[in-house]
Amino acid sequence: DAAERGNYRHYMQKEIHEQASAVARTLADRIENGVALDTAFGENAAAVLDKTKGVHIIACGTSYHAGLVARYWIEQLCRIPCSVEIASEYRYRSPVVPDGTLFISISQSGETADTLAALREAKVSGYVSTLTICNAPESSMVRESELAMMTNAGPEIGVASTKAFTTQLAALALLTICLARRAGLEERQERALVAQLAELPGLIEQTLLMDKSIEVLAEKFVDKHHALFLGRGVQNAVAMEGALKLKEISYIHAEAYAAGELKHGPLALVDEDMPVIAVAPDDQLLEKLKSNLQEVRARGGELFVFADPRVHFGENDGIHTMRMPALIQDFQAPILYTIPLQLLAYHVAVLKGTDVDQPRNLAKSVTVE
Ligand code: G6P
Repeated sequence: DAAERGNYRHYMQKEIHEQASAVARTLADRIENGVALDTAFGENAAAVLDKTKGVHIIACGTSYHAGLVARYWIEQLCRIPCSVEIASEYRYRSPVVPDGTLFISISQSGETADTLAALREAKVSGYVSTLTICNAPESSMVRESELAMMTNAGPEIGVASTKAFTTQLAALALLTICLARRAGLEERQERALVAQLAELPGLIEQTLLMDKSIEVLAEKFVDKHHALFLGRGVQNAVAMEGALKLKEISYIHAEAYAAGELKHGPLALVDEDMPVIAVAPDDQLLEKLKSNLQEVRARGGELFVFADPRVHFGENDGIHTMRMPALIQDFQAPILYTIPLQLLAYHVAVLKGTDVDQPRNLAKSVTVE
């Protein structure tokens, strides 16, 4: 056990720090001469992608959050409808499947009972095909799905998923590019998107340099009972993943909200005991987010903002800004902004002395309903 963990105290810590190489492995052999290969998704993927006019993504937990990020990418870049749903709900309703819809299951283990049941249901529901994005090559979902793409993250032992998530996002970015090509993405644009992906391993390493300062920051969370995570647009899904990480391993009640929705409820909870964590890349929603954050400050909430280096929030007592590397929005920002939130959850859990790799009441793979 100690040998496998190497110099790391926990598997989760090791897996967080392995993300650059894991993402590099996800991308390896799936890109050729600067363009993405359809065959990444299986031998017959090209014919299926040609017919795809919409996408249904089904998953649980962290994998569901990867799907939520992908929805922004697919709808923006491919201009086809994409819905994302948790498997335990999807399997018990009667979803309408429009012609030409591709079913996608996302799963680290490939064995999650609800996702597997949803996949089985999908195979008789008139989808164009079924595709699984998965980290376990021998798993039930990979065997039963018509198309599959391995994330190649390597074994993930920590119950709280980290490298599985960022590699799922890399896989979904490749899928977005392959679908976008069919929607008229020009080769020049494709090359620019692929180049963004190729930069990821280096940017992940750069982001991981925040580790020490986040360890210090974590001290401010140890005595808290609640935390609020805010993002807008695609970063709302990143905020959801950050909140999930914190609650899973530090047992602090954490909730994510789309920042624009604050005024419709959660603002009532904000006071000096409620830390508010925000993810603030330099995107088109930044000014909106800034005014949402002012609403938090005005209620005495302490703000922790992970921000683009070019963005200023007016440093004062109640605002702590942590500088991220400068990133390109499309694919890079959601993948990279996840990392400090993983580190924060990890360090808070260590300070609280919880069982980081085996949090109470949770299982790595939930194979029963
Ligand atoms: C469990 C794990 C989570 C994981 C979820 C979905 O709840 O604790 O970390 O995200 O299952 O698992 P899957 O293997 O389908 O991605």
